[in-house]
Amino acid sequence: MVKEIGLEGVALGEPAQVERGVIVERRSFFTVAAAAFAAAGLPGMARARRLDERRDAFDYEDFLAEAVPAAKSLVADTSIKGQDRYLFTLAALAVRLGDVAPPQMRSNGPGKFIGANDGGDPFVVLHWRMEAGARIEAHPHIYGNVVTLGLEGEALVENYEVEGPRDWLAKQPFAVRRTVSQWLTRGGVNLVNLERNYCHGFTAGPNGARGLDITTRLLPRQDSPSLIVGRALDATGARFEATWQYD
Ligand SMILES: [Fe+2]
Repeated sequence: MVKEIGLEGVALGEPAQVERGVIVERRSFFTVAAAAFAAAGLPGMARARRLDERRDAFDYEDFLAEAVPAAKSLVADTSIKGQDRYLFTLAALAVRLGDVAPPQMRSNGPGKFIGANDGGDPFVVLHWRMEAGARIEAHPHIYGNVVTLGLEGEALVENYEVEGPRDWLAKQPFAVRRTVSQWLTRGGVNLVNLERNYCHGFTAGPNGARGLDITTRLLPRQDSPSLIVGRALDATGARFEATWQYD
């Protein structure tokens, strides 16, 4: 979510209310994560099997206990499919979280606040809050992928990709396509893969928004621009002229 941050420096429970189909879906998600654990021969699986997803709370410590070994096992494959597997596995665990206590946060621009929850390896868990109407301008993720989890309120999240070969230093306008336009609400996730949906921007709704960015650096850090999205290029309304803007 944040364009640039010194990552090293910052530091179901209602089965009766949930339709049967929804429960089945969640179990399907769990099966995906279970398969990843089993394939990797990870010890976390045994504990996960003891949890009753419908009744047992899954708190931040539970998340770390499951996510850290899984992430360590899967992070080495940085192909597009490898990143998808990594991100979906983290997301499948993140959606089991209830709330996560906000850490100390600092200002990250007008109406925007950012901090980090302790723990996480190889990922860092950023915790952000946006006041109503606050915006995070669209920007590419050049060296780190992200699972964004909504915890409170709602924010419009839009993801973009460059059409054709991408050049982070391009001075001339180029075409982008909006690949995702999503109202992120509590429990929802948005994924940024370095090869897919790799630009994202946020606009907080009328109630503001709060959530996590579970971010993992895969490549050396480098300057990252903002993505300035211009006029629509055709009747789809989802292809735009765009430029990079470096501060
Ligand atoms: Fe970002």
